Amino acid sequence: MNEGPLVLGIETSCDETGVGIVRGHTLLADAVASSVEEHARFGGVVPEVASRAHLEAMVPTIERAAASAGVRLSDIDAVAVTSGPGLAGALLVGVASAKALALGLGKPIYGVNHLAAHVAVDQLEHGPLPEPCLAMLVSGGHSSLLQVTDVTVGVEPLGATIDDAAGEAFDKVARLLGLPFPGGPHIDRAAASGSSVYVDFPRGLTSRRDLERHRFDFSFSGLKTAVARWVEARERAGEPVPVNDVAASFQEAVCDVLTRKAIDAAVTHGIDDILIGGGVAANSRLRAMATERAEAQGIRVRVPRPGLCTDNGAMVAALGAELVARGREASSLDLPADSSQPITTVVA
Ligand code: KG4
Ligand code: ZN
Repeated sequence: MNEGPLVLGIETSCDETGVGIVRGHTLLADAVASSVEEHARFGGVVPEVASRAHLEAMVPTIERAAASAGVRLSDIDAVAVTSGPGLAGALLVGVASAKALALGLGKPIYGVNHLAAHVAVDQLEHGPLPEPCLAMLVSGGHSSLLQVTDVTVGVEPLGATIDDAAGEAFDKVARLLGLPFPGGPHIDRAAASGSSVYVDFPRGLTSRRDLERHRFDFSFSGLKTAVARWVEARERAGEPVPVNDVAASFQEAVCDVLTRKAIDAAVTHGIDDILIGGGVAANSRLRAMATERAEAQGIRVRVPRPGLCTDNGAMVAALGAELVARGREASSLDLPADSSQPITTVVA
């Protein structure tokens, strides 16, 4: 397969140093070095630790990606890099590295939006994106519903979390239950042998009054507090906390709201395809519930495999290749890292 532009993508917005290489829609390499274990004892990502880890991992990860793709860096058509949103210091390492590479190779650079990259990555697994599609991005840093008409031009936000991100809620509740960081995969696993109807936890922003103002928005901080209260009450009473049941009931509440709102947004906007991305898209209950509920409405659901849902360089390369293929203008070499780059800006 020798079709499409050969693009190297660099991702450093949080704690993963990702370098991916794609040709068109074909994934050639996806090298990731994670500093997650260095953050685990703090219960969350420490920005300074992440930046330093990116610095150390960058060159070896680029070399690993090139070797596993079997390409020479000089063969690359363009360099893409996450320019935002994300942690400022972490983004800076990726952007500076991408600039050095692009300058050294004499190739164009594309500073791309992290969220749009989470959408574009699905092309590597399922082929060209259905356009328009409704993207639900759920990760440790964001929870958004987006209308995607052309992922290389702009993405229209329909709703987002008004407090904690979905992944953040998973991480905080895991901590309450004594499970390690990052909590999502541990809750997923614990929930598999728990009862999802053990506790009827609140579904944020779903009352009729809330729906008037926040129809496509999410709120997870009330749910997190409800879990904390429930666990505290059990502990005060000297009773054991049924971790698996609480995990399953919490996970059910999150997935219920996410899928309900995503499907409502798709139906309201006449969109037949939902795409789920971001780390929380790896959640087994979310994948099953979204597929089942969407199918009942005649809506198709696409979710990339878990390794492509969490942060990686392949997603950045995938969006970069699409930008090149569609003839979009490259960024300039003085491109900044923008920790709050808006989703409407696909290329900085
Ligand atoms: O997209 P991502 O790798 O990084 C950010 O941009 O945040 O997402 C990480 C988040 C973490 O909060 C993690 O707990 C969550 O995704 N996550 C999961 C699962 N796997 C990862 N949440 C629920 N279920 C999972 N299986
Ligand atoms: Zn992400």
